[in-house]
Amino acid sequence: MTAPKLQVPDHFEAFDIGLLGGPGEQLYRKARPEIDAMPWGTIDLSAFPETTIARARRVWTMAAFQEYRTGAACSLALQHLFRVQAPLDLIAVATRFPLDEVVHVELCGRLVAELGGAMELRHDPASLVPRLKPELDPLLQCAEIMMRVFCVGEAVSIPILRASWQHAELPLLRAILGRIVKDEAVHGQLGFWFLDWCGDAFDADERAHLERAARDEIGKLLQSWARFETPALGAEADEVPGAFGLSDAGDDAGTLGWMPVDVYLPTAHQALDDAVLKPLLDRGFDPRRAEPIPGH
Ligand SMILES: [Fe+2]
Ligand SMILES: [Fe+2]
Repeated sequence: MTAPKLQVPDHFEAFDIGLLGGPGEQLYRKARPEIDAMPWGTIDLSAFPETTIARARRVWTMAAFQEYRTGAACSLALQHLFRVQAPLDLIAVATRFPLDEVVHVELCGRLVAELGGAMELRHDPASLVPRLKPELDPLLQCAEIMMRVFCVGEAVSIPILRASWQHAELPLLRAILGRIVKDEAVHGQLGFWFLDWCGDAFDADERAHLERAARDEIGKLLQSWARFETPALGAEADEVPGAFGLSDAGDDAGTLGWMPVDVYLPTAHQALDDAVLKPLLDRGFDPRRAEPIPGH
Protein backbone atom coordinates (compact mmCIF):
# COMPACT_ATOMS: atom_id res chain seq x y z
CA MET A 1 0.00 0.00 0.00
CA THR A 2 1.46 3.36 -0.92
CA ALA A 3 1.15 6.35 1.42
CA PRO A 4 -1.24 9.07 0.21
CA LYS A 5 0.57 11.98 -1.43
CA LEU A 6 0.52 15.20 0.58
CA GLN A 7 -1.63 17.84 -1.06
CA VAL A 8 -0.03 21.28 -1.31
CA PRO A 9 -2.72 23.94 -0.66
CA ASP A 10 -3.49 26.33 -3.55
CA HIS A 11 -2.26 29.43 -1.74
CA PHE A 12 1.28 28.02 -1.37
CA GLU A 13 3.83 29.76 -3.56
CA ALA A 14 6.96 28.48 -5.27
CA PHE A 15 10.19 29.62 -3.64
CA ASP A 16 11.80 31.43 -6.55
CA ILE A 17 14.43 34.12 -6.09
CA GLY A 18 16.81 36.02 -8.31
CA LEU A 19 18.68 39.28 -8.81
CA LEU A 20 17.61 42.43 -10.67
CA GLY A 21 21.18 43.40 -11.67
CA GLY A 22 22.44 46.91 -12.39
CA PRO A 23 23.30 49.56 -9.77
CA GLY A 24 21.52 47.69 -6.95
CA GLU A 25 23.59 44.61 -7.53
CA GLN A 26 26.78 46.67 -7.77
CA LEU A 27 26.10 48.22 -4.35
CA TYR A 28 25.30 44.81 -2.91
CA ARG A 29 28.50 43.29 -4.35
CA LYS A 30 30.53 46.16 -2.92
CA ALA A 31 28.95 45.67 0.51
CA ARG A 32 29.48 41.91 0.54
CA PRO A 33 32.48 41.05 -1.69
CA GLU A 34 32.92 37.69 0.03
CA ILE A 35 30.20 36.14 -2.13
CA ASP A 36 32.19 36.47 -5.35
CA ALA A 37 35.39 35.48 -3.55
CA MET A 38 34.07 31.95 -2.80
CA PRO A 39 35.81 29.08 -4.68
CA TRP A 40 32.89 28.62 -7.07
CA GLY A 41 33.18 25.89 -9.68
CA THR A 42 35.49 23.65 -7.66
CA ILE A 43 33.15 20.73 -6.88
CA ASP A 44 33.73 17.70 -9.09
CA LEU A 45 30.22 16.29 -9.31
CA SER A 46 31.46 13.19 -11.11
CA ALA A 47 32.92 12.03 -7.78
CA PHE A 48 29.44 11.65 -6.26
CA PRO A 49 26.61 9.25 -6.98
CA GLU A 50 23.45 10.76 -8.44
CA THR A 51 21.52 10.03 -5.26
CA THR A 52 23.96 12.13 -3.21
CA ILE A 53 23.73 15.01 -5.68
CA ALA A 54 19.93 14.84 -5.70
CA ARG A 55 19.93 14.89 -1.94
CA ALA A 56 22.34 17.83 -1.90
CA ARG A 57 20.03 19.77 -4.21
CA ARG A 58 17.16 19.17 -1.79
CA VAL A 59 19.21 19.97 1.31
CA TRP A 60 20.66 23.20 -0.04
CA THR A 61 17.39 24.36 -1.62
CA MET A 62 15.82 23.92 1.81
CA ALA A 63 18.80 25.71 3.39
CA ALA A 64 18.32 28.67 1.04
CA PHE A 65 14.66 28.82 2.01
CA GLN A 66 15.45 28.60 5.74
CA GLU A 67 17.88 31.50 5.35
CA TYR A 68 15.23 33.46 3.45
CA ARG A 69 12.66 32.78 6.15
CA THR A 70 15.12 33.80 8.86
CA GLY A 71 15.81 37.03 6.95
CA ALA A 72 12.10 37.83 6.98
CA ALA A 73 11.87 37.01 10.71
CA CYS A 74 14.93 39.17 11.47
CA SER A 75 13.29 42.04 9.57
CA LEU A 76 10.09 41.69 11.57
CA ALA A 77 12.07 41.59 14.82
CA LEU A 78 13.92 44.74 13.74
CA GLN A 79 10.63 46.53 13.14
CA HIS A 80 9.51 45.59 16.67
CA LEU A 81 12.81 46.79 18.16
CA PHE A 82 12.14 50.20 16.60
CA ARG A 83 8.54 50.11 17.86
CA VAL A 84 9.62 49.70 21.49
CA GLN A 85 12.51 52.18 21.27
CA ALA A 86 15.13 49.57 22.03
CA PRO A 87 18.65 50.90 22.67
CA LEU A 88 20.21 52.19 19.48
CA ASP A 89 23.24 49.91 19.70
CA LEU A 90 20.93 46.89 19.90
CA ILE A 91 18.99 48.13 16.87
CA ALA A 92 22.22 48.89 15.03
CA VAL A 93 23.51 45.35 15.51
CA ALA A 94 20.16 43.92 14.37
CA THR A 95 20.12 46.01 11.17
CA ARG A 96 22.96 43.91 9.76
CA PHE A 97 21.12 40.63 10.18
CA PRO A 98 18.65 40.81 7.26
CA LEU A 99 21.56 41.53 4.89
CA ASP A 100 23.54 38.65 6.40
CA GLU A 101 20.60 36.34 5.74
CA VAL A 102 20.25 37.60 2.16
CA VAL A 103 23.93 36.78 1.65
CA HIS A 104 23.32 33.30 3.07
CA VAL A 105 20.35 32.82 0.73
CA GLU A 106 22.55 33.69 -2.22
CA LEU A 107 25.39 31.43 -1.06
CA CYS A 108 23.04 28.46 -0.70
CA GLY A 109 21.27 29.36 -3.96
CA ARG A 110 24.47 29.57 -5.98
CA LEU A 111 25.64 26.29 -4.53
CA VAL A 112 22.35 24.69 -5.57
CA ALA A 113 22.86 26.04 -9.08
CA GLU A 114 26.29 24.38 -9.19
CA LEU A 115 24.74 21.13 -8.05
CA GLY A 116 22.33 21.14 -10.98
CA GLY A 117 19.56 23.50 -9.90
CA ALA A 118 16.99 23.94 -7.16
CA MET A 119 14.35 21.39 -6.29
CA GLU A 120 10.79 22.68 -6.33
CA LEU A 121 9.83 24.04 -2.94
CA ARG A 122 6.37 25.45 -2.22
CA HIS A 123 5.60 27.32 0.99
CA ASP A 124 2.85 29.20 2.75
CA PRO A 125 3.74 32.92 2.47
CA ALA A 126 1.44 33.69 5.41
CA SER A 127 3.62 31.50 7.65
CA LEU A 128 6.92 33.03 6.60
CA VAL A 129 7.29 34.81 9.95
CA PRO A 130 5.95 34.03 13.45
CA ARG A 131 2.43 35.29 14.01
CA LEU A 132 2.11 37.57 17.02
CA LYS A 133 -1.02 38.63 18.90
CA PRO A 134 -1.53 42.35 18.16
CA GLU A 135 -3.53 42.80 21.38
CA LEU A 136 -0.43 42.07 23.46
CA ASP A 137 1.69 44.87 24.90
CA PRO A 138 4.25 46.01 22.25
CA LEU A 139 7.24 45.18 24.46
CA LEU A 140 5.86 41.69 25.06
CA GLN A 141 5.29 41.18 21.33
CA CYS A 142 8.84 42.30 20.69
CA ALA A 143 10.16 39.96 23.38
CA GLU A 144 8.16 37.07 21.95
CA ILE A 145 9.68 37.42 18.51
CA MET A 146 13.14 37.90 20.00
CA MET A 147 12.62 34.76 22.08
CA ARG A 148 11.37 32.66 19.18
CA VAL A 149 13.74 33.86 16.47
CA PHE A 150 16.92 34.68 18.35
CA CYS A 151 17.00 33.07 21.82
CA VAL A 152 15.92 29.70 20.41
CA GLY A 153 16.17 29.52 16.59
CA GLU A 154 19.34 31.45 15.92
CA ALA A 155 21.06 30.48 19.19
CA VAL A 156 20.62 26.73 18.69
CA SER A 157 21.79 26.82 15.08
CA ILE A 158 25.25 28.21 15.83
CA PRO A 159 26.92 25.12 17.39
CA ILE A 160 25.17 22.95 14.78
CA LEU A 161 26.45 25.10 11.93
CA ARG A 162 29.92 25.15 13.44
CA ALA A 163 29.94 21.34 13.55
CA SER A 164 28.68 21.18 9.94
CA TRP A 165 31.53 23.48 8.94
CA GLN A 166 34.05 21.31 10.81
CA HIS A 167 32.76 18.21 9.00
CA ALA A 168 32.79 19.76 5.56
CA GLU A 169 35.78 18.83 3.45
CA LEU A 170 35.27 20.40 0.04
CA PRO A 171 36.72 23.94 -0.18
CA LEU A 172 33.48 25.49 -1.48
CA LEU A 173 31.37 23.93 1.30
CA ARG A 174 33.93 24.97 3.92
CA ALA A 175 33.96 28.53 2.58
CA ILE A 176 30.16 28.82 2.51
CA LEU A 177 29.60 27.26 5.92
CA GLY A 178 32.53 29.22 7.36
CA ARG A 179 31.01 32.49 6.16
CA ILE A 180 27.62 31.60 7.59
CA VAL A 181 29.14 30.54 10.94
CA LYS A 182 31.05 33.83 11.12
CA ASP A 183 27.92 35.94 10.53
CA GLU A 184 25.67 33.87 12.77
CA ALA A 185 27.91 34.14 15.83
CA VAL A 186 26.32 37.48 16.72
CA HIS A 187 22.80 36.48 15.65
CA GLY A 188 22.73 33.90 18.42
CA GLN A 189 23.50 36.45 21.11
CA LEU A 190 21.18 39.33 20.29
CA GLY A 191 18.14 37.76 21.96
CA PHE A 192 19.96 37.48 25.27
CA TRP A 193 21.25 41.05 25.07
CA PHE A 194 17.65 42.07 24.51
CA LEU A 195 16.53 40.16 27.63
CA ASP A 196 19.37 41.78 29.59
CA TRP A 197 17.92 45.13 28.57
CA CYS A 198 14.23 44.55 29.34
CA GLY A 199 13.78 41.11 30.92
CA ASP A 200 13.04 42.61 34.34
CA ALA A 201 10.15 44.65 32.94
CA PHE A 202 7.86 41.61 32.65
CA ASP A 203 5.48 40.40 35.34
CA ALA A 204 4.93 36.73 36.16
CA ASP A 205 2.22 36.23 33.52
CA GLU A 206 4.32 37.88 30.82
CA ARG A 207 7.36 35.81 31.77
CA ALA A 208 5.18 32.69 31.56
CA HIS A 209 4.03 33.81 28.10
CA LEU A 210 7.65 34.11 26.96
CA GLU A 211 8.54 30.74 28.48
CA ARG A 212 5.65 29.19 26.52
CA ALA A 213 6.91 30.80 23.32
CA ALA A 214 10.39 29.36 23.97
CA ARG A 215 8.90 25.97 24.78
CA ASP A 216 6.89 26.07 21.58
CA GLU A 217 10.00 26.70 19.48
CA ILE A 218 12.05 24.11 21.40
CA GLY A 219 9.20 21.60 20.93
CA LYS A 220 9.37 22.06 17.15
CA LEU A 221 13.11 21.34 17.22
CA LEU A 222 12.75 18.26 19.42
CA GLN A 223 9.98 16.95 17.20
CA SER A 224 12.14 17.24 14.11
CA TRP A 225 15.14 15.64 15.80
CA ALA A 226 12.98 12.81 17.16
CA ARG A 227 12.32 11.68 13.61
CA PHE A 228 15.98 10.76 13.34
CA GLU A 229 15.93 8.98 16.68
CA THR A 230 13.02 6.92 15.33
CA PRO A 231 14.17 6.02 11.82
CA ALA A 232 10.84 4.30 11.11
CA LEU A 233 9.32 7.76 10.84
CA GLY A 234 11.52 8.22 7.80
CA ALA A 235 12.75 11.79 8.11
CA GLU A 236 14.76 13.28 5.30
CA ALA A 237 17.74 15.52 5.88
CA ASP A 238 16.00 18.52 4.43
CA GLU A 239 13.12 18.31 6.87
CA VAL A 240 15.19 19.37 9.85
CA PRO A 241 14.95 23.10 10.52
CA GLY A 242 18.24 24.85 10.88
CA ALA A 243 20.24 21.82 9.80
CA PHE A 244 22.55 21.98 6.86
CA GLY A 245 21.70 18.41 6.20
CA LEU A 246 22.63 15.17 7.82
CA SER A 247 22.94 11.67 6.53
CA ASP A 248 21.46 8.47 7.84
CA ALA A 249 23.47 5.96 5.83
CA GLY A 250 24.98 5.22 2.47
CA ASP A 251 27.21 8.25 2.09
CA ASP A 252 30.37 6.25 1.49
CA ALA A 253 31.47 8.57 -1.28
CA GLY A 254 31.31 11.48 1.14
CA THR A 255 28.64 14.08 1.73
CA LEU A 256 27.89 17.45 0.23
CA GLY A 257 27.49 19.37 3.44
CA TRP A 258 25.70 17.14 5.91
CA MET A 259 26.70 15.35 9.10
CA PRO A 260 26.18 11.70 10.10
CA VAL A 261 23.14 11.32 12.35
CA ASP A 262 25.27 9.96 15.21
CA VAL A 263 27.22 13.23 15.16
CA TYR A 264 24.31 15.51 14.37
CA LEU A 265 21.92 14.48 17.14
CA PRO A 266 24.31 14.81 20.12
CA THR A 267 25.53 18.11 18.68
CA ALA A 268 21.97 19.39 18.35
CA HIS A 269 20.91 18.34 21.87
CA GLN A 270 24.09 19.81 23.36
CA ALA A 271 23.45 23.03 21.45
CA LEU A 272 19.98 23.23 22.96
CA ASP A 273 21.37 22.81 26.47
CA ASP A 274 24.36 25.13 26.13
CA ALA A 275 23.26 27.82 23.70
CA VAL A 276 19.54 28.08 24.55
CA LEU A 277 18.54 26.65 27.91
CA LYS A 278 21.54 27.77 29.93
CA PRO A 279 21.45 31.45 28.90
CA LEU A 280 17.67 31.49 29.38
CA LEU A 281 17.93 29.92 32.85
CA ASP A 282 20.67 32.42 33.73
CA ARG A 283 18.10 35.13 33.03
CA GLY A 284 15.32 33.49 35.03
CA PHE A 285 13.39 32.03 32.07
CA ASP A 286 12.71 28.30 32.28
CA PRO A 287 10.88 26.96 29.21
CA ARG A 288 10.79 23.47 30.79
CA ARG A 289 8.18 24.56 33.33
CA ALA A 290 5.95 26.25 30.73
CA GLU A 291 2.57 24.80 29.85
CA PRO A 292 2.47 23.65 26.24
CA ILE A 293 0.68 25.97 23.84
CA PRO A 294 -2.67 24.38 22.86
CA GLY A 295 -2.46 22.76 19.46
CA HIS A 296 1.34 22.39 19.58
FE1 LIG B 1 21.74 32.70 8.21
FE1 LIG C 1 20.98 34.21 11.29
